[in-house]
Amino acid sequence: MPSSANQIRDDLERRFGEELPEITAKEGLEQLASIARRGSCRRFKTQPVSTELVHMLCAIALASPSKSDLQQRDIIVINDADQKMRLVELVSEQVWVRGAPAVLVFCGNNRRQRQLHEWRGHTFANDHLDAFFNAAVDAGIALSAFVTAAEAAGLGCCPISAVRNRATEVGALLNLPNHVFPVAGLALGYCKDEPSISMRLPLSMTVHEDRYHDRSSPDMIDAYDARRNVLQPYSQQRLSEKLGTTDRYGWSEDKARQYSLPERQDFGDFIRSKGFNLK
Ligand SMILES: Cc1cc2nc3c(=O)[nH]c(=O)nc-3n(C[C@H](O)[C@H](O)[C@H](O)COP(=O)(O)O)c2cc1C
Repeated sequence: MPSSANQIRDDLERRFGEELPEITAKEGLEQLASIARRGSCRRFKTQPVSTELVHMLCAIALASPSKSDLQQRDIIVINDADQKMRLVELVSEQVWVRGAPAVLVFCGNNRRQRQLHEWRGHTFANDHLDAFFNAAVDAGIALSAFVTAAEAAGLGCCPISAVRNRATEVGALLNLPNHVFPVAGLALGYCKDEPSISMRLPLSMTVHEDRYHDRSSPDMIDAYDARRNVLQPYSQQRLSEKLGTTDRYGWSEDKARQYSLPERQDFGDFIRSKGFNLK
């Protein structure tokens, strides 16, 4: 096996905690290796990212697939320093965003589609949940393609769902019209440190053959927690003032604590206020 094939297998086995078959792919091994070991970056060098590079990455991101070629996503590149400061303020609980040389916001956009109906004189007969859902998925696909492209170009990045915590203010700051909504921000720059490989649930739990198999048993989650705690332990226990601390703190406890508090309860109202009918 060529060395990058070995590297891919090692990195994936480390990430998923299970043995993988031999990597037989022959093409694109270097790119695959870098995707296999990727990780988010939240600590950036001060070095700026050139406008041309950001523009090229936007173009690559928007070359990704789009539902029915409807192209229902837009990217807002925050260039103005004051505008960036205001956006950073709106996500101030994510302190690390302050240090990002570049910030972008990926938006779902169902507005253009509705305009096409107006301009071409056809009824828009799909004013239901799917209109919102398709635009959100399209934006997510572009976000993912941007991340992969940015990481291939030697940059580091991290999405920021926190832009949806203050969706109304973010919408006003970015001048978002009806049927355009933020999906996630993205912090971008050159990473200070090599991003680490974050452990994932085993593929035997998340990849299914032929039909869904409900394999998420408490034992498997315990095993995942234990494996993660060895390689990627939590430095702090979430909500410890309210919920106390436990020796058995791991991913499952962290995620259950995270969603024990309401988050973004007003997001549905915001999306409805942007004209979507979510029925
Ligand atoms: C849509 C989306 C939104 C995210 N929002 C945040 C965020 O607001 N703050 C943050 O620190 N990380 C955020 N992340 C990054 C995830 O926490 C990260 O991808 C996850 O912990 C796995 O780590 P990895 O990307 O290094 O593999 C987000 C990721 C995605 C895909």
